[in-house]
Amino acid sequence: MAMGNAKAIKIGICGLGVVGQGVWKHLRRNGKLLEARLGVRLEPVRAAVRDLEKSRPVRIPRDRLTDDVMSLARDPELDIVCELMGGSDLAREFTLAALENGKVVVSANKALVCDHGREVFETARLGGGHYFFEASVGGGIPIIKALREGLVANRFDLIYGVLNGTCNYILTRMEAENLSFEDLVKRARKLGYVEADESLDLDGIDTAHKAVILGFLAHGRWMRLDEMLVEGIRRVTLEDIRQAAGLGYSIKLLAVITRDFESNRMFIRVHPALVPRGRVLANLDGAYNGICLSGDIVGTTFYIGKGAGQDATASAVISDIADAALVIKGSHKLLLPDEALSIHEERSTPCGILPLEEVVSPYYLRLTVKDEPGVLAQVASAMARHEVSIASVVQRQATGADRASLILTTHDSNEYAIRRAVAELGGLTSCLEEPFLMRIADFDE
Ligand code: HSE
Repeated sequence: MAMGNAKAIKIGICGLGVVGQGVWKHLRRNGKLLEARLGVRLEPVRAAVRDLEKSRPVRIPRDRLTDDVMSLARDPELDIVCELMGGSDLAREFTLAALENGKVVVSANKALVCDHGREVFETARLGGGHYFFEASVGGGIPIIKALREGLVANRFDLIYGVLNGTCNYILTRMEAENLSFEDLVKRARKLGYVEADESLDLDGIDTAHKAVILGFLAHGRWMRLDEMLVEGIRRVTLEDIRQAAGLGYSIKLLAVITRDFESNRMFIRVHPALVPRGRVLANLDGAYNGICLSGDIVGTTFYIGKGAGQDATASAVISDIADAALVIKGSHKLLLPDEALSIHEERSTPCGILPLEEVVSPYYLRLTVKDEPGVLAQVASAMARHEVSIASVVQRQATGADRASLILTTHDSNEYAIRRAVAELGGLTSCLEEPFLMRIADFDE
């Protein structure tokens, strides 16, 4: 497809904090790719900030900035406005004004959706605008899309998850490093994880806001926080973590949304809970979020990803911007990938294919060999000849006399080298069976 001629959708961003800057930066960085996928160009053109003079890591020309937030709600040039200020007062005023003007609003504001969702959705309906809020729950995890689109066929009797990365960071690090709650709160503050009002994180309120949104989307009913059970993590001590570990559990701050279809009632609770060690959510580390949706048709599904931070949240905001752009364009379809998608931003050649020499992995290799002097040396020298570096070797007596199993692991090697090494090893007279090779999948998380 022709790139660069598509219609531009103009975007305004209210709030140039961490997330707002991330959205601006990634819209620019992945602009060509988005254009190829959507058939429209997404152009960030204006941003509203509180302080025009403040220096920000993401450089945005001064003439693109205003300190008049409300002007973006009325700006006829803008097709989409992103509300990334947070809070409830100005954010609500701005959102309602933009929707009354028929604008498409994209938001990451969980407190606003939770406390004023009914009013916001109604205003969008009456004003002809649209409201998107994927980034309000689960950061970069497309949980709202999963719930509303991918799993639209289902009724949900149970939704539960870890929805607050800060609390998960504190609890997992208490367990892993044997440090107190207070120490970890201090560290989380230093890392910039904790909300300005730390009660939102530590007292479970942020988790509750997100749970209310999921509860509404699943069941069509807004629950208020005072109708729910909401407890935070302040009373969890290192002793509790140790005792739970001894019993085979990890402590997590969970949101649990249940619906009893027999009696047609629902409930939302937020509290620290002991989760058996083998379960998916018990192994959720650091600032990650994880959500389990159980649908009556699909069964149990899990979603895990970064629950906060500039890039993860920007990813969710841009996904909403893309949906909004399709609504504006009058098409609800993404384009199927074509060659244009494979073209690298800075080079104009289509995507190539890596040769085997560059397909890299650590490996596991099992050899059945004669148990006699010099065999290990033959194996080691074959590996060395092909420049495969051995990480570990274990020898086990194999069934049958004079035979041994050699289990080797390697450092990162490449397919070309390891295949040649294995072919040579397989040809040794001391090698009694075809070698068995597996890749070790130790990907960065
Ligand atoms: N305070 C929130 C958290 C930020 O820690 O998960 C993302 O909503």
